Amino acid sequence: MSEKVIAINHLQKKFGKFLALKDVTFEVKKGEVFGFIGPNGAGKSTTIRTLLGILRASGGTATIFGKDVWQDAVQIHKRLAYVPGDVYLWPNLTGGEIIDLFLKLNHQQHNARTDELIKQFELDPSKKTRTYSKGNRQKVALIAAFSTDADLYIFDEPTSGLDPLNEEIFQKQVLALKQDGKSILLSSHILSEVEHMCDRIGIIREGRLIETGTLNEMRHLTRTLITVQTQSSLPDLRNYNGIHDFKLAKDVINKASFSVDSDKMGAVMTLLAPLSITALQSTPPTLEDLFLRYYQNDEHGDDHHEI
Ligand SMILES: Nc1ncnc2c1ncn2[C@@H]1O[C@H](COP(=O)(O)OP(=O)(O)O)[C@@H](O)[C@H]1O
Ligand SMILES: [Mg+2]
Repeated sequence: MSEKVIAINHLQKKFGKFLALKDVTFEVKKGEVFGFIGPNGAGKSTTIRTLLGILRASGGTATIFGKDVWQDAVQIHKRLAYVPGDVYLWPNLTGGEIIDLFLKLNHQQHNARTDELIKQFELDPSKKTRTYSKGNRQKVALIAAFSTDADLYIFDEPTSGLDPLNEEIFQKQVLALKQDGKSILLSSHILSEVEHMCDRIGIIREGRLIETGTLNEMRHLTRTLITVQTQSSLPDLRNYNGIHDFKLAKDVINKASFSVDSDKMGAVMTLLAPLSITALQSTPPTLEDLFLRYYQNDEHGDDHHEI
């Protein structure tokens, strides 16, 4: 049994009359990178701020290391490093001074790793932070977090101000933490930014956690694109269960393209096999496709549970 580092059950958060979190349930296991994905305003930061004991939940439960996030916040914070999406710094201190201050506040010290990270992220630590761009402010918080020895790292959209090169460094550092057996919660509204790093992802929409699983499990929920050519004549499969968007090629006979529900793939292949396949191309769905479907459902108000 893998140990739960974060366990959230039916979490709710009200701001006045507005229910920002309606039902959020997921867990983060020890040693895993969990991607917390959802569009802007879905409730990612609210969930994270509740986990940090900054906000008090209106309903449900949330624990970190088996401790209540509100009651035991002080104890929890000793083993946790956090980087918010918008990093505010003291403008009159230098980046280096603030990194050291963050480390001290976490009962840590400036160490060799800190210097290495400053080099990697190419931060000039001698400048006052009032001169820093958003990306540089984020780097300050990231460098402090990555050189903190914690058990759990929480990053709330940490790469929104970073250029691609620094984003890559961020990803490498996250994977290094994972290799050290640390647990990581990483939020983003852009799936492809976090896709490579995450063992599992949870999708939040309008204050509800609507889907959790490994990337492969998520892919199973989507359709694969097939282009096929056969020797025998190809029947019209428009109404075949599990097949969508069936189109016969105009210029070539017995050639068609369509998409297939992943769980109907076996049945469709069995159907095609006796037709003497001469060419077959299968394009697996990207997670971006899956994500798009959720967003589309968002706009059209479809029932997402069907997916
Ligand atoms: N302090 C607050 N007071 C009132 N509403 C808030 C507050 N913080 C967040 N919200 C609202 O809660 C919803 C979720 O916000 P947030 O958690 O920041 O989303 P995300 O981080 O996924 O972009 C949004 O509609 C936002 O406007
Ligand atoms: Mg947010």
